[in-house]
Amino acid sequence: MATQTPITDAPIPSHIPADRVVDYDLYQGQIYSETGDLHEGLFRIAEDHGRGVFWTPHNGGHWFINDCDLLRNAARRTDLFSSTAMTIPPVPEEPKLIPLFLDPPDHGLFRAPLLKEFTPSRVLAMESDIRAFAIELIEEVREQGKCDFVDAIAEPLPIIIFMRIMGMPLGRLHEFRCWIYDMLSSDDTRRLSAYANIAGLMGELIRERQAAPRDDLISRLLTVTIDGRPVTYDEMQAYCLLLFAAGLDTVANALAFGMNYVSRDPALQVRLHEDPGLVSKAVEEILRRFGVPMPARTATRDVEFGGAHIRKGERVMLMIPAANLDPKVFPDPWRFDPDRKNKTHVGFNVGPHRCIGLNLARLELNIFWEEWTRRIPHFRPDPDGKVECRAGLTLAIQKLPLIVGA
Ligand code: HEM
Repeated sequence: MATQTPITDAPIPSHIPADRVVDYDLYQGQIYSETGDLHEGLFRIAEDHGRGVFWTPHNGGHWFINDCDLLRNAARRTDLFSSTAMTIPPVPEEPKLIPLFLDPPDHGLFRAPLLKEFTPSRVLAMESDIRAFAIELIEEVREQGKCDFVDAIAEPLPIIIFMRIMGMPLGRLHEFRCWIYDMLSSDDTRRLSAYANIAGLMGELIRERQAAPRDDLISRLLTVTIDGRPVTYDEMQAYCLLLFAAGLDTVANALAFGMNYVSRDPALQVRLHEDPGLVSKAVEEILRRFGVPMPARTATRDVEFGGAHIRKGERVMLMIPAANLDPKVFPDPWRFDPDRKNKTHVGFNVGPHRCIGLNLARLELNIFWEEWTRRIPHFRPDPDGKVECRAGLTLAIQKLPLIVGA
């Protein structure tokens, strides 16, 4: 491994052998690669230590799974790995986002109403709105000839679409984005204050819709019944908080990682421009090659899993971006190949918590890439700018300077 901070002096629990310990700090992901590329860093850890279940003493100490089959298995075993406590490092008051922080059987009861909101037909009904919005942003960038892609498109596009679905005030776009950063921070104070801010705003909206329903998601959720009773105010707030956390940063970063790659591959740009049919395959390969979230679980009991002795209460992170680069499942995994045969990646996870918004996410990405490659055949990284990444439970690109149309 190229560069690394010294291992933390946090003690290694006695049941964990030295060969299971990896010096990996999830909030410093960029230091594990030579280039600062977060995915390369996770890939290198697997190259150096292998694939399986490993312990890191950083961030309170936690396990991580970077083997694709083991990860799929862990995601399905809700009896062994609970979603009720998912933060790393642990916080005393875990946010109760519904249905993400629930286990079966409650989880299914609360997931069902949301699933109805994001079916393929519901999502397809948003297509013309999303397309119009994408075109507007792309045309602005085309006229300017250069941009910070995150600021100009990756950030506003999914956020504004989401805010419209939820019936949120668009004037608060920038404020929302700052709260998302804080929600993903390792700093407890910033994280908790972001949750409080978002919960406060959602609370205002819920009360407004209770008094005067509209045609938006919040108003429809207010009519939902769970096990025959109406949804409570606290549950409504927890639903909204999760949609906020799950639906914004993920799409923004999938757009940015994809653009970071495609802007460096002129031959792929030509192919995408000349063959619009390739776009959907490229989007699926972006979702595999550049996984974004790394959700965590808590062991419900002492268990031997993947050869590791995991104790009850220990955190286990599902390292989705690394699992998507597992050569046992995806031959030559580092290669970006839209024509790859096996497209069953774990970018949206598997099992009961598999992403509810995947139809919407895929639609947003497909529309963006269709419109971008149709309108802007050539683009490249701005040599005067620098790509800025942010490591964490969600891998992120914060700045992506581009030259457009040259
Ligand atoms: C490229 C974009 C996206 C990616 C990569 C992604 C990824 C994921 C992953 C990996 C999970 C599983 C978390 C876990 O196992 O603990 C998840 C759950 C979830 N996602 Fe997404 N997501 C994306 C976009 C969206 C969007 C646009 C929405 C909705 C507006 C959304 C809503 C949700 C919800 C509600 C859950 C919780 C499901 C449950 O616990 O049953 N996601 N997402």
